[in-house]
Amino acid sequence: MSKVKSLEELMKIKEQALQNIKMREAGKRGKIVVAMGTCGIAAGAKDTLKAIVEYMNEMKIDDIAVVQSGCMGLCEVEPTIEVALEGQEPVVYGNVTPENAKRIIQSHILEGKVVSDLVVKRGEV
Ligand code: FES
Repeated sequence: MSKVKSLEELMKIKEQALQNIKMREAGKRGKIVVAMGTCGIAAGAKDTLKAIVEYMNEMKIDDIAVVQSGCMGLCEVEPTIEVALEGQEPVVYGNVTPENAKRIIQSHILEGKVVSDLVVKRGEV
């Protein structure tokens, strides 16, 4: 892990750790975070979120939490989502249209294969 450089960063780490504990308690093995900042919403993040929730229901995936976050600071590739599975480095995907969201769920969540052509970043945002 890299050095903590600010109080804000420390708070973020704390928040993340608490969320992870909550997730484990709820029997989840991971989470999908959908960035819902203003530019994400303008780029269609609401449709992306809807597609994720619907597809997860369709595929009966109930061990992955779907949560919303504010801006991830990646305007140019919105809508963005982060897929964080237990014991793995989180992966941030960009240009996540509803179709791409389905691809990500199918490949990353169900088959354990990262969708490399949509990856924007690996590791914590
Ligand atoms: S304003 Fe936050 S990603 Fe664009």
